[in-house]
Amino acid sequence: MDDKTLAARAKAAMKGSYAPYSNFHVGAALLSEDGEIFQGANVENISLGLSVCAERNAVATAVNAGHRRFVKVAIASDGDSSVPPCGACRQVLREFCEDMEVLLVDADGSWRKFQLSDLMPEAFAHFPQEPKS
Ligand code: THU
Repeated sequence: MDDKTLAARAKAAMKGSYAPYSNFHVGAALLSEDGEIFQGANVENISLGLSVCAERNAVATAVNAGHRRFVKVAIASDGDSSVPPCGACRQVLREFCEDMEVLLVDADGSWRKFQLSDLMPEAFAHFPQEPKS
């Protein structure tokens, strides 16, 4: 799966966003080890702390479909600049891989590439053991 396709899918995922409180729409496209893409968007709640980020919704969708190994994620928003994943999302992404590429997609569709291990060094994690079922 090429980066351009994944970046485009992150932008497409923004259409699923429910963000009436922040008006900040985020989309994520998560690539599984076996080559499937799972999209997610942020879903907010009037009790603001219950809002869920795009990345975590993409992970939940993928895991519910039986996929637990991921190699790359692309994140897009309708803001002026790219959105790095929040700390909670970094921890959730780390649950299902030892490391992965993180593409931060800009408004013009271009992206910058990071490693999750650089964004979250010394993570609290159990990998490389298999997560318990
Ligand atoms: N948001 C995400 O979806 N992903 C991130 O990595 C950062 C923040 C969402 C949460 C909330 O709906 C909105 O952006 C504003 O914080």
